[in-house]
Amino acid sequence: MAIREILVLPDKRLYEVSKPVAEITAEIRTLVDDMYETMYDAPGIGLAAIQVGVPMRVVVTDCSPRDDEAEPLTLINPEILELTGDPVPYEEGCLSIPDYYDEVSRPPNARVRYMDLDGETHEIDVDGLLSTCIQHEVDHLDGKLFIDYLSAFKRSRVVSKFKKQARLRDKLAS
Ligand code: NI
Repeated sequence: MAIREILVLPDKRLYEVSKPVAEITAEIRTLVDDMYETMYDAPGIGLAAIQVGVPMRVVVTDCSPRDDEAEPLTLINPEILELTGDPVPYEEGCLSIPDYYDEVSRPPNARVRYMDLDGETHEIDVDGLLSTCIQHEVDHLDGKLFIDYLSAFKRSRVVSKFKKQARLRDKLAS
């Protein structure tokens, strides 16, 4: 297992649409192992493969409360089949947009279909934090970030802040 580098805004790869996994290969298993190690190290509660630069439809999550036993959930080719309930605001963050948090309203209930690492298909109904987390991660697979739900003003302010930071990093590195 290895910790992989997490892509950070304004990296253009974060806007890529990820491709479905056709077959669970050794590379996919290694990718999933590395994604868990990267997510727990960060720490975070969800990670999409594109966030480590791999444009495949693979998501890992663990929304268990801190200090509780781990509840890892691996979702290959996840699909949101249905969203229900009046949207509820929740303060979201993202490992690709470090130290920035803002409220996003999403429907509280989701029916999700996904494949596990054994190639079995599952359909689950989720709510609460896990629902928010899965909706956020599936957005990543479609090249969408949580700041895309904010006003154009807020969004451009966040993006320009990260562009400035990237320029500064490049300058210091050169
Ligand atoms: Ni994210």
